[in-house]
Amino acid sequence: MLTLAQHPHLFLGSSPDSRMMGELMLGYGVFAFVVLAIIAGLLVYMKRKYTVAIGDDSDFREAQDEGKIEIGFALASLVIVVVLTYFSTRTVWKVGVDSETALEQPDLLIVGHQWWWEIRYPKAGAVTANIAHVPKGKRLLVALESADVVHDWWVAGLGRKMDAIPGETNYFWLEADEVGEFEGACNEFCGMQHAWMRIKVVAMEPSDFEDWVQAQGREAEAPQSASAIQGSRLFQEMSCASCHSIRGTDAEATIGPDLTHVASRSTLLSGKLPYSKENLRRWLHDPQAEKPGAHMPKFLLDGQELDHLTEYLGGLK
Ligand code: CUA
Repeated sequence: MLTLAQHPHLFLGSSPDSRMMGELMLGYGVFAFVVLAIIAGLLVYMKRKYTVAIGDDSDFREAQDEGKIEIGFALASLVIVVVLTYFSTRTVWKVGVDSETALEQPDLLIVGHQWWWEIRYPKAGAVTANIAHVPKGKRLLVALESADVVHDWWVAGLGRKMDAIPGETNYFWLEADEVGEFEGACNEFCGMQHAWMRIKVVAMEPSDFEDWVQAQGREAEAPQSASAIQGSRLFQEMSCASCHSIRGTDAEATIGPDLTHVASRSTLLSGKLPYSKENLRRWLHDPQAEKPGAHMPKFLLDGQELDHLTEYLGGLK
């Protein structure tokens, strides 16, 4: 069963930032409701008090009150604007990354691509895709970029939404104060597979995270079985290596996801398919059937070649 933490949830965030933003939004909502109730009440009151029967030609200049009501409303509006600006600004300051902090090396570098997320841990030398692992209780500085068009990172349970803009770097804080999985998605229409540009953040105990990031930072293990060795050859020959990296091999391109530890991920195609060797094989067989528009072309592989490639990639844990 899914727990609350797994859902994007605006009002019950799992980080100080998201809670603060949730409270602000709730505060705004309550405030707006109170203002609405006052105005609605005044309307009813005015209507009752100043309704004049047809044919009644009595002088109702008394209702005008020499502009006092107008001044009162103007002042009240001013107070409302000042109060709301104060709370908004305070939240913006607290959740924002100041320009000095932005000069530091980020904990994560996330790059939006059509249609997947590249996730780098510059300090640990690890690279993965679509699923960001983080240690719980740590405020991580994230630098966000785009490789092509505008994307938008949003994991509602963990904090703010941020655009990934080509040619620019934006910064935000990522923090989870409980262990769990948090779902997110690209929030800016970015083309055909925008809907399948999901994000998952996995918050772990710090010691588990250390193990994970160390493992992800390692080079790929050499293939063992005859089939996997065949697969690794195919990978280099079939031009897979022109787009993908497998650290520890000659494949060093960064157009597609880094595949060094692809078999350790729980999903494929940015969350569209759960990870399994069968799904990996389906994808390799016909990427356009699984994710139309994806930038991976269909290679004409026979059954045996597919088996070898699947064996090789499926061994990259
Ligand atoms: Cu990337 Cu929408």
